[in-house]
Amino acid sequence: MPKNSCCEMELPETDYQATRKVAIVGAGQVGATFAFTLMQSGLADKIVLIDVNAELAQGHVMDLNHGLLFVPPVKISAGDYSECEDANIVVITAGAGQKPGETRLDLVQKNAAIFQNIIPQIVRYNPKILLIVSNPVDVLTYVALKVSGYPLNRVIGSGTVLDTARFRSLLSAHCEVDARNVHAYIIGEHGDSEVAVWSQANIAGITFDQYCPTCHKHCSEMDKEQIFQKVKNAAYEIIRRKGATNFAVSLALLRIVGSILRDEQSVLTVSTLLDNYYGISDVCLSIPAIVNRDGLSRILSIELNETERQQLQSSANLLKQTIRQLYI
Ligand code: LAC
Repeated sequence: MPKNSCCEMELPETDYQATRKVAIVGAGQVGATFAFTLMQSGLADKIVLIDVNAELAQGHVMDLNHGLLFVPPVKISAGDYSECEDANIVVITAGAGQKPGETRLDLVQKNAAIFQNIIPQIVRYNPKILLIVSNPVDVLTYVALKVSGYPLNRVIGSGTVLDTARFRSLLSAHCEVDARNVHAYIIGEHGDSEVAVWSQANIAGITFDQYCPTCHKHCSEMDKEQIFQKVKNAAYEIIRRKGATNFAVSLALLRIVGSILRDEQSVLTVSTLLDNYYGISDVCLSIPAIVNRDGLSRILSIELNETERQQLQSSANLLKQTIRQLYI
């Protein structure tokens, strides 16, 4: 047998990819849709669906497993909080959703009480990262951070990742430019006080205000306001028609989870605890930040004009007031 035959060669220590396990707490519209989205992505090796209604979780898992033939290999199961052990990420969608006309902040008392109960049961198994989705997501990210005792980087909220996607897709349609080439952010609360950073919105580095005169539409301030109102009110319009939002938010979650599991270092407007960001501290808000395998890696200090700074401060004040009411 020649010396260097493959049978005798010293094979390098195989660096098997560690198992990528995602637990989803809450098997409602968002949790179940995200499980379905995640299973098709090939991102996770294991997906566990956890719900206080064990039958509901089991029913979704049975249904999802019947589709395994059509997706990349993945193990999907239902379980209890002990399944959070060894999870890279626990995606928390548990709690009440908005009813038609209800604001996200209207949910705070009920969902904060649920979080006080479930967060200790989750972190008992020391999963690596908590991704908060339940609304009001910024306040619940703050609650999860405090109750879990986790370091800041390991508790992030989905924040305005979805709003930013809505903003970019509307600007894309308006400007007739691929959304992937429209760079624009929604920051602050994932909710009614969110802020459109128009001053930094750009297409191929050309700011929106410079780009506009070059296209045949010649936007007015009214056009910009109409675009922003559509972004801000999107969830209300969808909930009024179908009772909940679930598809785009699941794709937004896939984007965040992908940046964590693949260590992509992506810039995403996730919700995180601020410390003297434009003078704002001790509140969770969405700001462009780098997301990687350790969760939140770094907050980016983007340039804001005076109007945007004031709007961000107002958003922070509203959420701090909401948090104070919780802890009275
Ligand atoms: C929405 C929910 C996820 O904005 O808050 O669709």
